[in-house]
Amino acid sequence: MLQASQYKKLQIALHWVMFLLFAIALATIEYREGVPKETGQALRDTLRAIHISAGLLVFILAFVRIEERIRVGIPATLGNARWQIASAHLLHLALYIVMFALPITGVVFSQAGGRTVAFFGWELPQMLAQDPALRKSVKEVHEFLGNAVYVLVGLHVAASLWHHFIVKDDTLRRMLSWRGKQD
Ligand code: HEM
Ligand code: HEM
Repeated sequence: MLQASQYKKLQIALHWVMFLLFAIALATIEYREGVPKETGQALRDTLRAIHISAGLLVFILAFVRIEERIRVGIPATLGNARWQIASAHLLHLALYIVMFALPITGVVFSQAGGRTVAFFGWELPQMLAQDPALRKSVKEVHEFLGNAVYVLVGLHVAASLWHHFIVKDDTLRRMLSWRGKQD
């Protein structure tokens, strides 16, 4: 993996678009839980469709993000403490894992439950036969990981704020700065 001097514009854009997509995926599914099945089925279906489309877009963009990270690299984590650098890397790895694991488990349990999965209206081919046991276990994994996102992103945001306000280094600034490298 290469070492860059700063984030590329595309990397910064991908980071914040991804943040937005996570927020949409989480907000729609949380809101859906409060909509009654008896009277709000149409709204529940719309919220589910938005949740799935945002989640599948995360999956696609995760490949672009990894490709960019390998090709141009990212700047070194700021700070000298080994534990700090190691925990930042571990947390980033966990965030990359959920970017892939959530969409995959989402598609698997939906299709194993006999539900169609559509990406902005475009229906994905049915890749799995109905399997209630598989649906149940993979759904549990999806829900566990989906809820773990709050903890992971919470720690990630706390670390960014700690860098910015306590350590007063450039960690947050360089992820916000549109003066990033062109390519
Ligand atoms: C960034 C990606 C994703 C995130 C952060 C995410 C997160 C979550 C969370 C937090 C829940 C609620 C868990 C609970 O009730 O405790 C959930 C439920 C659900 N997810 Fe996802 N998800 C993502 C992607 C997907 C994808 C791609 C699909 C389908 C292809 C999917 C299908 C579903 C469905 C159908 C439910 C509702 C389960 C139910 O209660 O019936 N998700 N997801
Ligand atoms: C308000 C929300 C967020 C803030 C304030 C934030 C802040 C930051 C900052 C400051 C960095 C740069 C770290 C460095 O250069 O050492 C960074 C990197 C990173 N962030 Fe976030 N972030 C947020 C949300 C998210 C979300 C939702 C994800 C999950 C998809 C995410 C995934 C990553 C990853 C994987 C990196 C490592 C660099 C890379 O591979 O692009 N962030 N974030």
